Amino acid sequence: MDWNKLGFQVVPTKTMYIARTDDELNWQPGEFRPYGMLEIHPASGVVNYGQSGFEGMKANRAVDKKIVLFRPQDNAKRMQQLAERFLMPPYPVDDFVNAIKKLVIENRKFIPPADKGSLYIRPVLAGWGPVLGVAPAKEYMFYAFTSPVGPYFKGGVRPINLLITDFHRAAPRGTGNVKGAGNYAASLYPLRMAKENGYDEVLYLDAREDRFAEEVGAANFFAILKSGLVVTPISESILPGITRRSIITLAKEHFEWEVEERDIDINEVLSEAVECFSTGTAAVVTPIGSVTYRGTRHEFSDGKPGEKTMALRDRLVGIQTKQYDDPYSWVVNVT
Ligand SMILES: Cc1ncc(COP(=O)(O)O)c(C=O)c1O
Repeated sequence: MDWNKLGFQVVPTKTMYIARTDDELNWQPGEFRPYGMLEIHPASGVVNYGQSGFEGMKANRAVDKKIVLFRPQDNAKRMQQLAERFLMPPYPVDDFVNAIKKLVIENRKFIPPADKGSLYIRPVLAGWGPVLGVAPAKEYMFYAFTSPVGPYFKGGVRPINLLITDFHRAAPRGTGNVKGAGNYAASLYPLRMAKENGYDEVLYLDAREDRFAEEVGAANFFAILKSGLVVTPISESILPGITRRSIITLAKEHFEWEVEERDIDINEVLSEAVECFSTGTAAVVTPIGSVTYRGTRHEFSDGKPGEKTMALRDRLVGIQTKQYDDPYSWVVNVT
């Protein structure tokens, strides 16, 4: 494996985990099997009606060489919220965490050295059985596979440039607050539009009033205002990010900065923000260099990574890799 060539692509690994439900929709004991293809019915609920969703996690090598996960229980719980919204049987939290730990151990040869990336973990929950009319499937699959991925930034952290398009990601009381696969299908077109015009990502506004900042592609949004206040959207149509929650805690408790979770009008971002960043398992903490809204480009911190943004990033990554103390017990040893 050439660790220097890793990006964010599918790299086959050794083992995957699969569990299925029985006729009463009870989860059967899962099994580890060689990484490979899955067979699916042409009338399967996931393929026809998008009854599915996923999680995204990373296993890292900590500075003490141990293999660690970050808040895996939170991913398991978020998948239960998805299950509830999509009428799928929830996969038990303990079974989820134990399966992921064993999966990481099985695939440990694919964990890159600390400075070369992480082992990305993708748990999936899907309506597997056939169904013709629009209805929940009668059989479900929970599976998880891994793929080594490189660091999000090669050659140092680079601020990203965002475009606000005319598209929305999720409607109020829709499915934006769960990790349903269809949300991501809907984001492909606006993302292509942004990329074709030279931007890195899309900044979504809310669907009801088309003026409140919501999310940055598959990451949450934060702004630091001139007053020093840290703000992040609160909305029923954004994904409750685990990195988002961790950054709120660090900003409040470690740095003792004031944080507000509230509606943030895009005009407030453009006129008051001195730093902006996005957070996520893949993005970690990514500085935002500019936002282009209605044809005008607005830069933050002169297009450079903001100081407070980088301090938050350093603290989070330091905890995730055990360089710093973990007073919140967020980091879980796999071995
Ligand atoms: C739409 C969306 N928002 C936010 C996030 C960030 O969530 P987390 O920090 O749990 O990775 C993700 C990634 O999972 C996402 O897909």
